[in-house]
Amino acid sequence: MILVTGGTGLLGSHLLYFLLKEGNEVRAIHRKSSNFDSVKKVFSYYNVDAEAYFNKIDWVEADITDLPSLEPVFQNITHVYHTAAFIGFNPKDFSKLLKTNVEGTANVVNLCLVNQIKKLCHVSSIATLSAAKNGALINEENEYNPEDENSVYGITKQGADMEVWRGTQEGLDAIIIKPGVVLGSGHWSSSSSSIFNNVFKGIPYYTSGGVGLVDIQDVVKAMMSLMNSLITNDHFILVGENSSYKNLLNQIAANFQKKGPSKRIAKWVLLLYCNFDWLLHTLFNKKRKFIKGMVPSLYTTTSYSSEKIKSKIDFTFTPLSETLERVCKNYLKKTNR
Ligand SMILES: NC(=O)c1ccc[n+]([C@@H]2O[C@H](COP(=O)([O-])OP(=O)(O)OC[C@H]3O[C@@H](n4cnc5c(N)ncnc54)[C@H](OP(=O)(O)O)[C@@H]3O)[C@@H](O)[C@H]2O)c1
Repeated sequence: MILVTGGTGLLGSHLLYFLLKEGNEVRAIHRKSSNFDSVKKVFSYYNVDAEAYFNKIDWVEADITDLPSLEPVFQNITHVYHTAAFIGFNPKDFSKLLKTNVEGTANVVNLCLVNQIKKLCHVSSIATLSAAKNGALINEENEYNPEDENSVYGITKQGADMEVWRGTQEGLDAIIIKPGVVLGSGHWSSSSSSIFNNVFKGIPYYTSGGVGLVDIQDVVKAMMSLMNSLITNDHFILVGENSSYKNLLNQIAANFQKKGPSKRIAKWVLLLYCNFDWLLHTLFNKKRKFIKGMVPSLYTTTSYSSEKIKSKIDFTFTPLSETLERVCKNYLKKTNR
């Protein structure tokens, strides 16, 4: 039986669909507060009986930071996909990020070892890679550099990777994937899918940077292929295309038949806006939209190479235009946006 952590999240719910589609027996953990509606909604985008698919999953309540709740979940499990994490860029959340991403992953790794799990797939991020010199493409050899201006998220995802590498030294077979920004349907107001919501509502400005992007279905395909392969104790970047933010936002807007952002916002203006946003949050408890720590990456162009996975397994990435067309169509199908 396969165990999935983070099954109620964006990536986890798409992964659950494909694991079930292939006829696997799957157990997934959830928390008391988890929202199952978005999981069913994700299944419905695949035009299947979402309720029936959902009911095939053995859902167990557990928290990766709470060892006693997690221990029994590993009974009769052979393979583990660890997608659960806390995604946040506010330095104020550092201790929660450490607890969830580093301690939570350490718990998963330790239980994999104790229960002699055959293979673990850990979802890391390109945020753990260091910058390349002279604009070269970043590859797996651009290892984490603590001297870089790393986000609190990146620091804790790197800490999680170290736990997995430690596990491999203690006898665990594992693979680590490092996806770029994941583009997929569902969870429209959280995680990376909120970009579609924001563009639909209208974004007048763009920033000058760029980033690596990947189709969620490619991420799932890579995870399952690597888990079914003989490859172990290795890591792989998953970026289908590198794009400027301007191009990404305009392509999404075009799919919605809306006008894309036309004005570039200067970095100092955005930093000023962050201060104003912080003031609104502090004085009136308004939800923060921008954290200063997110700004540098919005003005940096980082480009990634996925040659390694293509050279190790038979793998092709979906063109960005195709991904955006499919995801935007699903967004427009949504009834209660
Ligand atoms: N989205 C991206 O662009 C992107 C890019 C690169 C890497 N990643 C990585 O991909 C993975 C999945 O990301 P996502 O976008 O799917 O995130 P997401 O939608 O925010 O989902 C996060 C999942 O983690 C679960 N979780 C959080 N804390 C937990 C805890 N203490 N115990 C148990 N479960 C917990 C959440 O459960 P609840 O439902 O209970 O909250 C949810 O299922 C993460 O490891 C992330 O770092 C994401």
